[in-house]
Amino acid sequence: MQIKDLKLINFRNYERANLQFNDHLNLIIGKNGMGKTNLVEAIYVLALTKSFRTNNDSILIKKNQENLKIAAQIKDEINTKEYELLLTKEGKKVKINRTDISRLSDYISKINVILFSPNDLKIIKDTPSIRRKMLNIEISQLDNVYLKYLQDYNKLIKQRNAYLKTMFNSSNNISKEYLAVLTNKLIDIGFEIYEKRKEYIKKINDNIADLFFKIANLKGLEIYYETDYEGVTKKGLEELYTKSLDKDILFGQTHLGIHHDDIVFKLNDHNLKEYGSEGQQKNAIIAFKLAEIPIFYKKRKEYPILILDDLFSELDNEKANNILKLLNGKVQTFITTTELDNINEKYLQDIKIFTIKDEQIEEVTYEK
Ligand SMILES: Nc1ncnc2c1ncn2[C@@H]1O[C@H](COP(=O)(O)OP(=O)(O)OP(=O)(O)O)[C@@H](O)[C@H]1O
Ligand SMILES: [Mg+2]
Repeated sequence: MQIKDLKLINFRNYERANLQFNDHLNLIIGKNGMGKTNLVEAIYVLALTKSFRTNNDSILIKKNQENLKIAAQIKDEINTKEYELLLTKEGKKVKINRTDISRLSDYISKINVILFSPNDLKIIKDTPSIRRKMLNIEISQLDNVYLKYLQDYNKLIKQRNAYLKTMFNSSNNISKEYLAVLTNKLIDIGFEIYEKRKEYIKKINDNIADLFFKIANLKGLEIYYETDYEGVTKKGLEELYTKSLDKDILFGQTHLGIHHDDIVFKLNDHNLKEYGSEGQQKNAIIAFKLAEIPIFYKKRKEYPILILDDLFSELDNEKANNILKLLNGKVQTFITTTELDNINEKYLQDIKIFTIKDEQIEEVTYEK
């Protein structure tokens, strides 16, 4: 899919912007703080209804303004649709071809975006919750049932934990049957999520080693899925939950389940978290993101939109140019950078360049 144009009203530092994009490569060039990330953030917010760098939506609205609007025409193999996201005091609203879409989970899988941002470089070192969040965002874009399961699962965990606390506080007369109902539901939905995550990770592993080799010239990268659910039947899980019950009641928390899942990056069986260099960790994350592209293509028959924010400041030039080489020209790509010079000239064909200065975005023609 391709984003043909983008209109912004009061988004971050932009009062108004109206841009027409190239179907292949779009370069966004500007000094630090000019609004490069803001621009790609707008595309991301339109696709996923949330930013990747804040949970506070109101910060996305231009200072001293009350509403924002992001709108774009997005083309796929079949047709072109207009997507809009409005943020006002009353809340967030999304529209497709001017029709309101009331459930966000119905909207989120429509525009597929793969983002790499400097923030992602910490993913391997960070806490498991960050890696789960990455998996959740990616799988939800492909599969809106996954997102619904996830929402149900999180609700169940809250209910179960609340009930565990009630059990702790009331010494008698408390029904274990209700807890068993919640636990069984948790296992059922947890199992669905587990299977979808497992399948996704398997598909990542079909591509990641090859991509990592092409970027970093190292063989043997693999992702491992760590979960309480691996190799256990539903019956077996029920027993594990029963075993864990005393501890669960004591802490008022559910210790078992897919809300503790993790993924581990290993290079020839060494955990990259402890073993890998910073550069290797960065390259592994980028390889992960790129490994997602064919998964999206297989499922959707459409390539996702790829955003590479500040790729060149985070990787050495050779590695970053290796990445450009991997893009097959079919994936619409947005790259932000402070310097055009970083990019190998051979990739500067058939592209659009936008420069940003003083909150104005200008399309410029490339001259050697
Ligand atoms: N709600 C807002 N209203 C007005 N300006 C904002 C708002 N939010 C952020 N900004 C401004 O946007 C600028 C940051 O933009 P952005 O992060 O896109 O910069 P950048 O070009 O990516 O810089 P870098 O090269 O350092 O990554 C800051 O100057 C900040 O003041
Ligand atoms: Mg930036």
